[in-house]
Amino acid sequence: MKFFATVALLATAVAAAPSQRLFNLKTSGASNSSHNDLYISVGHGLISDPLNSEAVFSGPSANRAAAFSFVNGTILLDTESKAPWALDLINVAGVRKERAQISVKPTHGSKGFSVSRQGVEGPSETWDGWLWCPADMAAGQFLPNLHFLSKSVQDPALPAGCDKIQLHAVPQSSA
Ligand SMILES: *[C@@H]1O[C@H](CO)[C@@H](O)[C@H](O)[C@H]1NC(C)=O
Ligand SMILES: *[C@@H]1O[C@H](CO)[C@@H](O)[C@H](O)[C@H]1NC(C)=O
Repeated sequence: MKFFATVALLATAVAAAPSQRLFNLKTSGASNSSHNDLYISVGHGLISDPLNSEAVFSGPSANRAAAFSFVNGTILLDTESKAPWALDLINVAGVRKERAQISVKPTHGSKGFSVSRQGVEGPSETWDGWLWCPADMAAGQFLPNLHFLSKSVQDPALPAGCDKIQLHAVPQSSA
């Protein structure tokens, strides 16, 4: 019943935006169990994009988990400086495996997040599910990172090397 209690709590948080209630994002539902129970953190960005950071999977310990809050359908990163960083879905036309990042200046795709029993969901027009994907070392990534499936491109059903996951918003760990 803990699961439903969490959802109810978050539904309240969403309705009462802006909310200061902080949460961590945690994976579940992966076909490879080593991709479950991982927290989202903020990691090294792409070489080609030094301004923004990546939404990376930091591991099963909450120590490095990023704290977020819902504000008006956006997912804001909680930072000491209160800088406007937000979870941003990068939509590229014709691409199935789309990238999520933590952007300084959120553009399109960063609004319209919602919470259901399946966890946190992206905007229904563009988002078709979350992906765990391995680090792209050539692009400058050190850790596996968050991607999502485009709704407008159906092939391949599952991009190579990636695993479908759910992201659940869990109340911020006190660890
Ligand atoms: C499961 O994921 C881990 C870490 O990504 C990987 O090392 C392992 O090979 C994967 N197992 C299978 C069966 O794909
Ligand atoms: C939320 O969105 C509404 C409608 O667009 C806007 O009027 C309001 O200022 C927003 N609130 C915050 C905290 O951004």
